Amino acid sequence: MAPPVPWLVILCTGALALFAGPALAASGADSVAVLVTYHSLSGNTEKMARAVAEGAKAVPGARVALKRVGEVTGNDLFSSDALIVGSPVYWSNMSGEVKTFFDNWQLKFGVFPEFKMRNKVGAAFATGGQAAGGKEVTMLTILAAMLGNQMIVVSGGGALGASATTEGDSPGIDEKELAAARDLGRRVAEVAVLVKRGARK
Ligand SMILES: Cc1cc2nc3c(=O)[nH]c(=O)nc-3n(C[C@H](O)[C@H](O)[C@H](O)COP(=O)(O)O)c2cc1C
Repeated sequence: MAPPVPWLVILCTGALALFAGPALAASGADSVAVLVTYHSLSGNTEKMARAVAEGAKAVPGARVALKRVGEVTGNDLFSSDALIVGSPVYWSNMSGEVKTFFDNWQLKFGVFPEFKMRNKVGAAFATGGQAAGGKEVTMLTILAAMLGNQMIVVSGGGALGASATTEGDSPGIDEKELAAARDLGRRVAEVAVLVKRGARK
């Protein structure tokens, strides 16, 4: 018959492992990388981007990076769990800089045919001068590029993402629009945590 001491050691180790479980889950295991990237000439989309990043940072375990689209590297993209892209509305669509960013996924970073962005969480935000000047089309075309890359597309802040009207009767970005941007960031980080947990099972 085995001496009782090893059993005691096994029991204690098991109890310690159980105790450590939730703490591990809250730190390392649920840590997600969220990349917020945007184009902005006059600062409106950048202001929204900062609020999106703030919202994502509020989720425990989220590590958040904020970059202009032109500065994003292949490593930034592939090491992220979630990507949130913001654009000003240019002629009722995403700006050329944001379109070039997406085109570079293939031209510079070679995402296809492996679908290297597959199953990462994606979302969009936009600012436009006019209330009905194309913000929703802009967000939809960003989401379409993500869908084409087999990403998991989500919304938040509004039905298609967060948006702000910046000219005419509604100059700049107001508190309600910033709150929508924070809401989008929070939702994306939350979903990224859920996807990562699900993938571990
Ligand atoms: C070339 C160009 C085209 C634009 N086209 C539109 C448009 O079609 N609809 C709209 O609502 N605003 C349009 N705008 C206004 C911008 O979308 C708006 O000012 C935006 O908030 C600018 O973002 P930013 O400050 O981040 O550069 C256009 C601006 C430029 C420079």
